[in-house]
Amino acid sequence: MKKTVFVLLGLIVLTACNTEKKESNHHNDEHHHTHSSKSYRPDIDAHKLIYPSKAPDRIIVSLTEDATHSFAVNWRTNQQIETAFVEIAEETHGPDFLLDEKKQQFTAKTELITVENTRDKEPSVNAAYHSAIINNLKPGTDYVYRVGDGSKNKDTWSEWFQISTPSTNENESFSFIYFGDAQNDVKSMWSRVIRKSYKMMPEVDFMLHAGDLINHSESDREWGEWFYAGSFIHATVPSIMTPGNHEYDKSVHRTKLSALWRPQFTLPENGPLDELKETCYALDYQNMKVISIDAQSFNNSKHSREAQTKWLDSVLVNNTKKWVTITMHYPIFSTAKGRDNQELRENLKPLIDKYNVDLVLQGHDHTYARGYASNEGLGRTIVQDAGTVYAVSVSGPKMYESQNQDWMVKRGEYVQLFQIITVENDRIEYNSYTTKGEVFDSFSLMKNKNGKKTLTNNKSEVQMRLKKDFVKN
Ligand SMILES: [Fe+2]
Repeated sequence: MKKTVFVLLGLIVLTACNTEKKESNHHNDEHHHTHSSKSYRPDIDAHKLIYPSKAPDRIIVSLTEDATHSFAVNWRTNQQIETAFVEIAEETHGPDFLLDEKKQQFTAKTELITVENTRDKEPSVNAAYHSAIINNLKPGTDYVYRVGDGSKNKDTWSEWFQISTPSTNENESFSFIYFGDAQNDVKSMWSRVIRKSYKMMPEVDFMLHAGDLINHSESDREWGEWFYAGSFIHATVPSIMTPGNHEYDKSVHRTKLSALWRPQFTLPENGPLDELKETCYALDYQNMKVISIDAQSFNNSKHSREAQTKWLDSVLVNNTKKWVTITMHYPIFSTAKGRDNQELRENLKPLIDKYNVDLVLQGHDHTYARGYASNEGLGRTIVQDAGTVYAVSVSGPKMYESQNQDWMVKRGEYVQLFQIITVENDRIEYNSYTTKGEVFDSFSLMKNKNGKKTLTNNKSEVQMRLKKDFVKN
């Protein structure tokens, strides 16, 4: 009797061990990651969004300080890929760019990162983040590039993506798309905004994100949604982004930038402090200077405030570009009373005025408004001697309310928007579109030889919307 029980027990133990072995093999083969979650929902979708493999994902190109001759590219794999490469060639009509002598290879910088996000009970994710700056490119040229591990195995390379460098003719027209906060339900509800914007202007030169790209700074899943939503657009159209409060870790009172910001983006490092690398910076694009102010850091400390204010002054006093655009997450003029950013305004507005900055593109308020510091143009179609134009926009689905204020020309709530901004030698055309592709707000800005600006408010197709008309409290 005793003997039989012992044998049965042995069989059970053996079977259990075999099953376990099979499962762990399956995991190792497919993913090479740690399953440390206790209560995380292991649904298939989240799995695809979170875990890296040997094949590159989250591929994104960004503008450098010298966009005419270079671009930056970042991507992610699992940690089995320790050395990674970019291959680039001038685009050809057929597959001839593949011929060896036409291709150039660059070695990327690789960082191994482990993301812990206990706030959302996500499993910890081990990934390798790769980045490279591709230099010595010809201006106004179409290229193709791909990223991968350098092997002959096509599966561990990305597809070939197109990318174009800007013209050396500074005054040639170019366009960029400005997005306010994406932040929430990014895969479900923001994807159609970025896709619609690209569909309306596939030849766009770059995209600008005014902060709060995601909701939880350390959520790998949310970052995965942001990359998923943009997919090949991120790999084809260069981006620049400024961080919002949500790119700073809430658990440490928004004093620590997301552990993923710097590994996953390559942005200029020409700001005033080490801690502001890739968050506060300036770059030139043809005849426009673009400046990113790190508004959260600005709020966090006097040290950062003083450094960024002094630095902005030095950038603007030395500027030789015809147009100047500043982006920052917190608005100089909020769309809602009670969401005031007094310190930001008191420090930066004197400089914005002094140097007659053209556009200030902001987010954070989850509503839309566009106008001027003074109410000079209110109700008028043409504004002579126009000053700085301020805009607050939102691209994601989180919607707040606002109040009408003197500085506003157009206000809106409960609308997901993107702005296509076209810059020419002496003219800026600004069109804010709803995600359905209709004009919500529009103006033209002309600058004469003496720097005097005339602003014309254009007709829009969609009238002002208020949240209360859609959602009853
Ligand atoms: Fe925000």
